[in-house]
Amino acid sequence: EISAAINATTNEAALEELRVAELGKKGRVSLMMRELGKMSPEERQEAGPKLNGLKTRLADTITARKEVLETEALNAQLAAETQDLSLPPRPEPVGALHPVMQVFEEVAAIFGDMGFAVAEGPDIEDDFHNFTALNFPEGHPAREDHDTFFMTPDAEGQRKVLRTHTSPVQIRTMMSQKPPIRVIIPGRVYRKDWDATHTPMFHQVEGLVIDKTTHMGHLKQCLTDFLEAFFEVDNAETRFRPHFFPFTEPSAEMDVRCDRSGDSIKVGQGDSWLEILGSGMVHPNVLRNCGLDPDEYQGFAFGMGIDRLAMLKYGMPDLRPYFEADADWISNYGFKP
Ligand code: PHE
Repeated sequence: EISAAINATTNEAALEELRVAELGKKGRVSLMMRELGKMSPEERQEAGPKLNGLKTRLADTITARKEVLETEALNAQLAAETQDLSLPPRPEPVGALHPVMQVFEEVAAIFGDMGFAVAEGPDIEDDFHNFTALNFPEGHPAREDHDTFFMTPDAEGQRKVLRTHTSPVQIRTMMSQKPPIRVIIPGRVYRKDWDATHTPMFHQVEGLVIDKTTHMGHLKQCLTDFLEAFFEVDNAETRFRPHFFPFTEPSAEMDVRCDRSGDSIKVGQGDSWLEILGSGMVHPNVLRNCGLDPDEYQGFAFGMGIDRLAMLKYGMPDLRPYFEADADWISNYGFKP
């Protein structure tokens, strides 16, 4: 009768209740065991083994039932928690590459094919690398041209600057490695400027080539090749306008033909000119400042604004949203991986 009751329980709590009622301290079977003491030896000899047998059988039955109930409970839980793997996942927002980063990568790939390595330097520069070593004379107005952000002077009275161009990395490169040198230098630069086409932080890519016979013809062909690859045009018409930079001599700005008649500027051919970059042959003083002998080595350098190149290539009218961390803007103009 008890075995039947055990096997009829439907949960572990009911089973435990039954165990206590039969085998617990005050349970029926336990009380019957206590009766053994009052029996005569003969009666006890007969009842003792029977009761012990009963106790063991009941304990085994309870253990077996407990296992069954546990398995059933686990199966029920597993069935309840089943997931429908055929359901489509909830959409998750996917990030996009900022146009500046995209263009950095495009530029690095084009120059990489021409054998250029990538070099980098710090955003916070000292006067020596940003100006002096680049042949800006003390008190020269060109130092003011850049609308420099100055840091608070340090304990030694040194006033560091947020670099105004990537050219200081020319100095760092020439002072740390031997020619032949062929590097491009992507990075952030800073000037006090703020309108639709100028932001106080923007991006440049610098280029530097130093070898024994590198000349202006190499500069022109290298930059023309770059321009055609970047804007995906054949036979882009370019011109080199004389210019002045303290760190190059001669210096030139490079313009490319463009067509402004449509909604966006088309680069390559057309009846307008578009300024693309500054360039020139590295000034002998700069080579000397880096410990290179200008009678042995010569080369060229160039620098261009990456934000403006990205605007041109991808037809964006305003530079300011570039740096407003607007997720909608990024998902619209950014590049999906
Ligand atoms: N550093 C210059 C600028 O920011 C660009 C430049 C780089 C010009 C290298 C010549 C050579 O305007």
